[in-house]
Parts: sequence; structure tokens; C-alpha cells
Amino acid sequence: SLWMELPTRPTLFDFQGISMIKYFTDNWENIQNFEARPDDILIASYPKAGTTWVCYMLDLLYFGNMCPERQTSVPLHERVPFLEICAPPRPKGTDLADQLSTSPRLIKTHLPVQFVPKSFWEQRCRIVYVARNPKDSVVSHYHFSRVNRILPEVGDWSTFLQDFMEGKMVFGSWYEHVNSWWEKKQTYSNLHYMFYEDLSENFGRETDRLCSFLGLSPSAEEKEKVRAAVMFDNMKQDKMANFSSTIQTMNQDVSPFMRKGKVADWKNHFTVSQNEHFDEDYKQKMKNHALCFRTEI
Ligand code: A3P
Repeated sequence: SLWMELPTRPTLFDFQGISMIKYFTDNWENIQNFEARPDDILIASYPKAGTTWVCYMLDLLYFGNMCPERQTSVPLHERVPFLEICAPPRPKGTDLADQLSTSPRLIKTHLPVQFVPKSFWEQRCRIVYVARNPKDSVVSHYHFSRVNRILPEVGDWSTFLQDFMEGKMVFGSWYEHVNSWWEKKQTYSNLHYMFYEDLSENFGRETDRLCSFLGLSPSAEEKEKVRAAVMFDNMKQDKMANFSSTIQTMNQDVSPFMRKGKVADWKNHFTVSQNEHFDEDYKQKMKNHALCFRTEI
């Protein structure tokens, strides 16, 4: 069976001021000393922002034509290694990245900006940051955490929501994550900040923006291929992208990785009073009005 034996769910602990679990800190030395190459592309996000969606887009934009067999034989998480993961018997993210023979290498991370290995900045690597509105992010995270034993145990929805608001989540506070990456963009020009809601609303426009940032100019036909391949229903069926082919730490029968893929599913989870409380708290925490999230489109 591909079911991965984990002794117990991990517990959150404070790691240099950020809530983390051991599966993302155990390989810390190798992560911090990771040697980025100038053409590496880092895909960064807070968990559940649509990272996999964007990883797949980039993989197809770069390699879809050149090596189509990649898409059918190599799982996406090997094509785009998750830098900080260290959960034996899964291979370490840093090892997978070191073994990549592609150029550029596509690498995924959920690290807060201050934890990104310094070589990425020194090499002036291109970075794509994916952000998603907090209400849909927390709902997605809740369902994912319920079924994924690599993550801390979850209680009920209202406790989870409160923990999210207090930053008691893996990779710390959503509010700090999106804000500090946004601030980084003001001084680091090789950073493209994109939103799940925009992708959902106008995929073509977002593909063009992404390509212009990456210096790619795919043909209309290539773009159409990418669009079709990464449509939610297609990705959901795609064994190389839906995590069903890999060593499993999650029970997808209860809640699949490709769950809904919608904007505003939070409306099916938040009560009226939870929503009021959340909005009030959000106003206090998000003072930068240049960074604007849409909770519906
Ligand atoms: P939901 O749980 O709301 O469905 P990440 O990859 O960062 O873990 O994000 C996972 C979320 O992105 C899930 O959200 C998943 O369904 C959604 N997602 C993945 N691929 C998608 C696609 N092609 N189109 C729309 N949403 C997608």
C-alpha cells in the first residue's frame, strides 16, 4: 500500500517566532544552505492558496511541449519539489531539488519570506507568489488538515477558524505571510504576486501576465493546451497532479485534495457571526490597503 505510516500527528511548536511542525523544520540546515541557481523559479504561497494549480501551469509552460511524457509518468510533486518537506520515507525536498535535471528548476515553498534560503535572493531568482483570500484559504485548509495526517490534529471548525485568526497554523499567520511577501515585492523586482481569485476569474489574462513576467511567449495553441490541462475537472482526474499516485498521508475518500476549486465556498462554512467577527479582526490586522483580497468574484 502507498499509505504512509506516521506514528502520530505532529504538534505545532514555536520556531523562531513562527508556528511550525517538525516535518518542515527537521531538514533546516540543508534548507538554509540550499544552493539556488540563477534560473531557478520559486513558487511561494501560504498553504491552500492554489499552489499546485500554479505549479502545474508553470511546469506545462516550460516543459509541456519539450517532454510530454513528464506529465504522464512523473508526479507533479517530483517535477516541482516542495523545498522544506522532510517526512520520511518520502524523499527530502532539498534532495529532490538537487536531483532535478531540468532547466529551469521549479521549486515550491510555503516558507514565510524571512525563512527563504538566502541563495534565492543572491541569485536574483524569479519568484511567483500565489495568494488566496483568507476565508477560502481557511476552509480549504480545514478540510485538508482533517484528512492529512502530516498536519496537526484538528478539532471542530470554529476552533480551527479561531486558530487561523491567531496565527496558530503551520507556517504561521496568514496575515503576516501575505503582508510580508507583499512588502518584499516593493524592493525585490523579480517577484510576481498573483491571486487565486484572478486566476479563477480570467485565466487567460493571468497566464499572459505570468508569461510576461517569466519572459515566455507561448503560442495561442500552447496556451490553450495549458488551460485545458489545468482546468479543475481535468486536474482532479489527473493521477500525476491529484496526489493519488504518491505515498499517501491523506485519506482522499473523506476529502479529496482537489476538493472544490471555487471562490466563495467559505459561505457554506462561516456562520453570520463568525463572518462578522472575522471581518472585524481582519480590519485590525490588514492595514495595508494596497493589498486587497476578494472573497467573491
Ligand atoms: P479547495 O479546497 O477550496 O477546493 P494548494 O495547492 O495550495 O494546496 O491549494 C489547494 C486548493 O487549490 C484547493 O482548494 C484545490 O481544490 C484548489 N485547486 C487546485 N487545483 C485547482 C484548479 N486547477 N482550479 C481551481 N482550484 C484548484
